[in-house]
Amino acid sequence: MTTPKRTLLVTTPIYYVNDIPHVGHAYTTVAADTLARAERLAGKDVFFLTGTDEHGQNIERIAREKGISEQEHCDFISAQFRSLWGRYDVRFDRFIRTTEDVHRRGVLKLWEKLRTAKTPDGRDAVYRGRYAGWYCPRCEGFKDEEELRQPGNVCPDHERPCEWLEEENFFFRLSGYESWLKEAIESERIRIRPESRRNEVLGVVKQGLKDFSVSRARVKWGIPVPEQPDHVLYVWVDALSNYVTALGYADDGEPYRRYWEGGDERLHLIGKDIIRFHCLYWPAVLHAAGVKVPTREFAQGFITRDGRKLSKTTGNVIDPVALVEKLGPDAARYFLLREAPYGADWDFTETAFVGRYNADLANDLGNLVSRAVTMAARYCDGKVPERGAGGSDFTATLEAKAFAAEGGLAAGVLARYSELDFAGALGETWSWVSQLNQAIVQVEPWSLARDPARRTELEAFLYRLVESVRLVAALVSPVMPRAASRVFATLGLGEREPDGADLAWGRLEPGAPLGAVAPLFPRVERADGPNETDAKAAPRPKKTKEARVSDVNQPSSGGEAAAAPAAPVQSPAPAPGADRIDISEFAKVELRAARILAAEKISGSKKLVKLQVDLGSEQRQVVAGIAESYAPEALVGKTIVLVANLKPAKLMGVESNGMVLAGSGEGGKAILCAFDSEVAPGTKVK
Ligand code: MSP
Repeated sequence: MTTPKRTLLVTTPIYYVNDIPHVGHAYTTVAADTLARAERLAGKDVFFLTGTDEHGQNIERIAREKGISEQEHCDFISAQFRSLWGRYDVRFDRFIRTTEDVHRRGVLKLWEKLRTAKTPDGRDAVYRGRYAGWYCPRCEGFKDEEELRQPGNVCPDHERPCEWLEEENFFFRLSGYESWLKEAIESERIRIRPESRRNEVLGVVKQGLKDFSVSRARVKWGIPVPEQPDHVLYVWVDALSNYVTALGYADDGEPYRRYWEGGDERLHLIGKDIIRFHCLYWPAVLHAAGVKVPTREFAQGFITRDGRKLSKTTGNVIDPVALVEKLGPDAARYFLLREAPYGADWDFTETAFVGRYNADLANDLGNLVSRAVTMAARYCDGKVPERGAGGSDFTATLEAKAFAAEGGLAAGVLARYSELDFAGALGETWSWVSQLNQAIVQVEPWSLARDPARRTELEAFLYRLVESVRLVAALVSPVMPRAASRVFATLGLGEREPDGADLAWGRLEPGAPLGAVAPLFPRVERADGPNETDAKAAPRPKKTKEARVSDVNQPSSGGEAAAAPAAPVQSPAPAPGADRIDISEFAKVELRAARILAAEKISGSKKLVKLQVDLGSEQRQVVAGIAESYAPEALVGKTIVLVANLKPAKLMGVESNGMVLAGSGEGGKAILCAFDSEVAPGTKVK
């Protein structure tokens, strides 16, 4: 009999559609996606839920200002979140929108349970009462008088005056759940992390919990309260319920039974700003309704820039689209999770982003992969080396450390992922990466290769080295799924994502062909000039027009593909021959044969492809507008003609060092210039 897998439900907050996505949203979503991938690798049955929070007074106001319906506004912004997650390679199982009917039905079912629920001391959990207080429409909540800035009763978060509201509401008797909450949190039945946040929550409980109102008059865009249809349910009750309605609470659906009621772990990732709602209100509401409560809650820290809160007013926001486009999703995900412990506040800088990319990804990881596989291929005829045995002490240690029976490296790293210690998981993997890089220097495979008597020793080392690279790829795959698949392809395993079985020793078959070596993370120059992740400085790529082959070749200063070609300029007819150039002008253009080593579509662009080319004496990255005519895999191995002395240009944020020559075929499709027969990379074309 096989034991069923442990289940894990991981959720992000559902994001308000009052504005476009923010880097803080990307931070939580990338963290949740990484955890989901890591726990699947560890063998768990995972369900990953995210979505958008679409009700409330703010949405009503914004839609009115824009002159469109609330639903139209919600559809528009919600789609932006969804598409952003595509760019970040986020793979959720469910994207809930609170305007879905299944959500409304689920909320009403929960409400019905609450209406008849009793507190542990036998009182009604929900009652009618009168509320009077300072209300901030932006927070959609009442504020304590002492929180407000004077004069003017200003909300400290939104810097706007609050309104004095008095209304007849339904209330939830949170005060009746004080001891229950205290016990649930202290006993860790609800495990709140980081520890400091747990203490903060317990501190709030100790001060005494106030009942909160769960319905609102005046708001129309929401779920009407059945007993009082001119009221809607308080937006937080509506929003929090998504965690069960998305799973099918309304109809007792399968995901609900499997991941909530019958599930092992129910984990909410949240920001430190919404702890009270998630760690106190939500568990109490669920408990009152007779529904299971979350088992874990983790509050991430806040990202700041230049030490200040990200704010449109100060203009220091970080554009999540520019961030992912700058160096690709793997690099953005890596940086977000590596730069600071998850749970701590941290400051974003462009320099740190590029610095980490070059140091950790291009240098440490990229070099390890290319050196290991290039050597294995060179000394073993393009094939996976023989496993061999013995060899240096070092070789034996390599195997023992990485693949120890009790788990070795993988067990340690996966345990850290599980604790949401992403920086720790990556740090541990990187210390292994640098040990491997040092091992290459110490063992000197190139010296072993000169001595036929040491052949077994050479192969034993190289086998363990490529196996270790494979393990590293598997362990970084939750953070960098694309890079991991590419490493697998380089190892001859096909471009696929690693799975749990890949954590075991010996998956590479000696004698099997290795794949082509392509640079994983080409180095980039440090950003000077305006910060590209600055929402104002980096206009998003224009959606209307994409670059054509000829446009692509023009250096563009705006960090994106050139837009429409300029209109033809009318000029008087030139004298015969006057429009010709002399040979010295042509000689300024350096044309060379270049072999394509790797090709990858640029996400967000239909036409652009990123090429790594071999120029004989060096490798280059070039961007070309040929993706509509050639599949990336069909390009690898082709020898093409490159204008090699063009100034670097950036296209959709990707650096291009040269221009590929192509003509226009039928329907304007690009056709590459190639050679009649084999020409060595780097050969001058005259
Ligand atoms: N809609 C509510 C959540 C309802 S959940 C049932 C909400 N939405 S929000 O769009 O304002 O997103 C809040 C979340 O975004 C925070 O909890 C946090 O996860 C993330 N962040 C927003 N700004 C942030 C930073 N500057 N830094 C890190 N994360 C932050 O609240």
